[in-house]
Amino acid sequence: MKFGVVGLGWPGQQHIQAIEVHKKEASLSAVCDMDPAKLSEFVGKCDTFSDIDQFFNEADMDAVILAVPHQLHASLTVQALDAGKHVMIEKPMARTSEECRQMIEAAQRNNKTLMVAQNWRYEPWCVAAKAIVESGELGQIQAVRTEWLLNFRDAFPKGSWIYNGELAGGGAITSLAIHNVDALRFIIGDISEVYTNELYTDDWSTNEAENWAMVQMKFENGAIGHLFTGYTPFFPPDNGMLYVYGEKGTMFSGPYNGESGLWIRSEQRSTDPSAGYERVDIEKFAPGLVGHPQTNQLKHFIDSVTNGTHPESDGRKIIKTIELVESMYASGREGKPYKK
Ligand SMILES: NC(=O)c1ccc[n+]([C@@H]2O[C@H](COP(=O)([O-])OP(=O)(O)OC[C@H]3O[C@@H](n4cnc5c(N)ncnc54)[C@H](O)[C@@H]3O)[C@@H](O)[C@H]2O)c1
Repeated sequence: MKFGVVGLGWPGQQHIQAIEVHKKEASLSAVCDMDPAKLSEFVGKCDTFSDIDQFFNEADMDAVILAVPHQLHASLTVQALDAGKHVMIEKPMARTSEECRQMIEAAQRNNKTLMVAQNWRYEPWCVAAKAIVESGELGQIQAVRTEWLLNFRDAFPKGSWIYNGELAGGGAITSLAIHNVDALRFIIGDISEVYTNELYTDDWSTNEAENWAMVQMKFENGAIGHLFTGYTPFFPPDNGMLYVYGEKGTMFSGPYNGESGLWIRSEQRSTDPSAGYERVDIEKFAPGLVGHPQTNQLKHFIDSVTNGTHPESDGRKIIKTIELVESMYASGREGKPYKK
């Protein structure tokens, strides 16, 4: 499968690394970026374009990977699908569910695959966490806590598109914790109600992009949940990303005794009250996956296109993550819970 990649920032480079790993099934035929410095390293390796229309008209490719700012997600996805290419679009799928619907319609109109790079779905620890929840080892899930604090200030200086709510489609939830929100749907199940306690904005942001957010949730399976995120914290410590509390066990992803990992303590493993957490044998629950999620993700994309099957992160599925984020913002603005 011949790939074209648009956007050569960190995520674009991860996709290119994945194409190199799968070189028997995939090749990089073209790249496109407005920044000549980023294009220069690809001269002589593949076709290079600085103009997006020229890229779509001239590049020899079966599929396009789009790793560009959010305001371009919908328009470039539709342009690629209408040019007859399969598309993998970076997260968030788009700024609004209306934009997502236009993308899904374009995929259906052209009979092409539209997959969203919600790469936690291809992270070994997330796949293992989902398998453990589904195995029943934790019993009935009662409560879930997720958080991600990441300092964007070095990568994105003040004034960048990412802090503009109109261009990015939101703030820390849209640009960062979309991974957590989507992973909750993947690992725990659908969310029936959200109540956004706080959307905190400071002078790093414009157009209602929140720097910090706190959201309460109720899952369809009865569990309660809490999301905490921020994208301009001053050098946050290494926190856990997901804590799952079940009737018969607790599992979390994060540091424990100075080591990062996915940890579990359950009735099934030990009834000794002084037992500590055990490191989950991720390989056992996520066989065949490598540590670089984009590599697993690209393999899944190639397999889905080749076999004509719906990918795990098909656009028709991930629009629900965007709808959920829209409910979180509506709840925060109006100060009331939002039910599905
Ligand atoms: N999955 C992940 O873990 C992950 C991590 C970081 C970012 N992302 C996502 O990847 C996407 C890109 O993020 P980024 O941090 O690389 O952003 P960025 O602002 O660095 O932009 C990426 C590249 O796109 C290029 N570009 C912008 N407009 C263009 C155009 N019209 N034509 C051609 N090139 C253009 C820029 O020159 C830049 O090199 C976003 O959707 C972001 O949310 C995903």
